[in-house]
Amino acid sequence: MTTIPLNDLQRMYAAYGDKLDQTALDVLRSGWWLNGPRNKAFCEAFAGYLGVGHFIGLANGTDALEIVLRVLLEKALRSGSVEQTATRTADAYEVITVANAGGYTSTACYLVGCTPVYADIEPESQLLSIPSAVAALSGKTVAVVATHLYGGLIDVPALRRAMNDAGYAHVPIVEDCAQAHGLKGASGTAGTFGDIATFSFYPTKNLGALGDGGGVATSDADLNGSVRRLQQYGWGDKYNIVAAGGRNSRLDELQAAFLSVLLSDLDSSNARRVSVLDAYEKAAPVGLQIVRSRIGTVAHLAVIQTGHREQLKEYLKTHGVATDIHYPVLDCDQPGWGDRPKRIGPSGLDVSRVSVNRILTLPCFPTMTEEEVARVCNALSAFTPR
Ligand SMILES: Cc1ncc(COP(=O)(O)O)c(C=O)c1O
Repeated sequence: MTTIPLNDLQRMYAAYGDKLDQTALDVLRSGWWLNGPRNKAFCEAFAGYLGVGHFIGLANGTDALEIVLRVLLEKALRSGSVEQTATRTADAYEVITVANAGGYTSTACYLVGCTPVYADIEPESQLLSIPSAVAALSGKTVAVVATHLYGGLIDVPALRRAMNDAGYAHVPIVEDCAQAHGLKGASGTAGTFGDIATFSFYPTKNLGALGDGGGVATSDADLNGSVRRLQQYGWGDKYNIVAAGGRNSRLDELQAAFLSVLLSDLDSSNARRVSVLDAYEKAAPVGLQIVRSRIGTVAHLAVIQTGHREQLKEYLKTHGVATDIHYPVLDCDQPGWGDRPKRIGPSGLDVSRVSVNRILTLPCFPTMTEEEVARVCNALSAFTPR
């Protein structure tokens, strides 16, 4: 029996082979591999697809989070919405996020000198709990990061309203869309609901490059300008540094060209992912709950919750189904950050702490065959907890 993998990018390449080969050859022969027309074309196309004014291609999604948080911190300091401390002590500035989303936002917080503040999550969707996020707001809050985890939609307009009602209309919302390319909500596409959004094009993402890639979407002209400056050494124009805190992070021409090819099929590949999730949901017996946002999903990952995770994992292994855990350790419990500042929001992390031991990721990718989906479904429906 062959094992059904969690993902299989060889199949993706096989499906696009000729187009991707030709694209690569065109880029290589052009002699223009950075800051060129392919980057520009992809960024314009993706901004248009999302419905935002600007998209800035970067080297990866973690850079996107880091640069965005740096921009927002500088903006908050300039406007006085957070208090400038003489030494910029480690816990002076805070970013509200969740603890179950793989550590990317926390990494960016530590890179820019902000303290991550962990809000709890909703049990069914595993997404940021809006009341918990609002309860964690303070005079130190630089931003709230809403991660559309597993491809599930957070109701960002509702989060905005709740923050405004609590007196925090000035605090920006960052949407982390690394797992949510093409996710549609009632009034648009994820990445357009907050003030600014970050994306990763890591190969397994819903829109994935053939290497690293990432970027930032925003319709705010000032934020766009600030991100562009920090992305390239702090340059205002060439060799002219007008902002401190700059670095170098670029989406190269090869990856941009590949992404342009793959963007045209994003909606259909998202639909295929969602059909796999639907099938699992139908097949799952009582006691196995599919994690799902009821207001929208692009099924980046198919995650199931069970009180019998070890048993289910072993059982699926013997039935030839690969599994993984996204993510096995909460950010606040990561040993490498033991001595780093952090704060648990006032609502606590009860749901996050229970869920981290219940989640299990099943195969879900657009090139899965019907036969593979049926095999996973049959295995799920025949599972009996001990
Ligand atoms: C939710 C989330 N945010 C951020 C990132 C970081 O992206 P990258 O791996 O491109 O740095 C990832 C991906 O890996 C992610 O899943």
